[in-house]
Amino acid sequence: MNSSIILILNHDPGKKQGIQLVTPHRFQQLILNWFDLHGRKNLPWQENKTPYRVWISEIMLQQTQVTTVIPYFLRFMQRFPKIELLADASEDEVLHLWTGLGYYNRARNLHRTAKTIMTDYHGKFPNELSALENLPGIGRSTAGAISSLAFEFSAPILDGNVKRVLTRFHGITTWTGNKATSEQLWQLSEKYTPIKRIADYTQAMMDLGATVCTRTQPNCAICPIKKNCIAYAKDLQTTLPLAKPKKSIPIQEKTFLVLIHKNKILLEKRPPTGVWAKLWSLPEIQGLASLTKIKTFCRQYSSIQQIKLGSVFRHTFSHFHLDIQPAFIKLDSIPRKFMENDQQIWYNLANPQAIGLPQPIKNLIEKI
Ligand code: ADE
Repeated sequence: MNSSIILILNHDPGKKQGIQLVTPHRFQQLILNWFDLHGRKNLPWQENKTPYRVWISEIMLQQTQVTTVIPYFLRFMQRFPKIELLADASEDEVLHLWTGLGYYNRARNLHRTAKTIMTDYHGKFPNELSALENLPGIGRSTAGAISSLAFEFSAPILDGNVKRVLTRFHGITTWTGNKATSEQLWQLSEKYTPIKRIADYTQAMMDLGATVCTRTQPNCAICPIKKNCIAYAKDLQTTLPLAKPKKSIPIQEKTFLVLIHKNKILLEKRPPTGVWAKLWSLPEIQGLASLTKIKTFCRQYSSIQQIKLGSVFRHTFSHFHLDIQPAFIKLDSIPRKFMENDQQIWYNLANPQAIGLPQPIKNLIEKI
């Protein structure tokens, strides 16, 4: 059966007059042939492939690029080569190994999932899509990736890379975050996903998105599916996918107190919910406090040797900007209020403890 359709484009800027939509079989052929020549086959998680290693890498890769993930993945595997070691570790240690990768809920969920697999699945990773999707931190696309890459069970994925490839290929001009558009993209992903060579196909789609059909400056000249790509035909490859409609986000201001005694600084454990949950951070005052206000705030605790204000810098979360003003405060002695307990530690800069730190706090500390 020949199900190809000829599509004539009315507003073609001149590159081409018409393009052919391809059958899933042809699409798969083009993608797999390209993969054989250009796909990535030596990534660390592709070696000694196990469901555990694939799962860890997929979680790390959820919002992070391959080059950033590689050293984190290697360190993680060195410390936790097996799921039972991860399940037995303290949450603090898992967060410590995650410091700098961001989106710390991924690490917390990873830890919870390791425990669930030990208790509910006798330490063996489930291979059913529905069981995978029920584990903390594993959504539909990650479940599809684990199923395909680790078990060779055919399942579609729709990560950022695949979304971009399919949006351009089909010239979709609605925002991919819309429910209807997302559903349309899932249907397309399902339609093209093969039964055979599913691991190679899945990896190929990710690689095509990451190395050819990139967000900015896609290299259409070397793309295996350009002949059938609507965005390419209409010269829309840098316009699609459409950016998320912009909404302005609020700004919060805080002063972070870097209380220094000898070569130690005071850190406090963040509450179990909210931003930076359970990570170790600095004591804070609302607003960009003046030197006088900081002096007044600290006077109640200790004799202060010196206070210096650092420059304000911005850290942006998905839903607000945080403008941070650091205040470096040298103390003569450790006041009673700041004695160590399970919520408060004196972090030794010369011999740092293995704990989870938010990246901006880590950066600040490194500057001292
Ligand atoms: N992004 C998400 N998963 C990936 C993988 N397995 N390889 C490369 N990039 C990815």
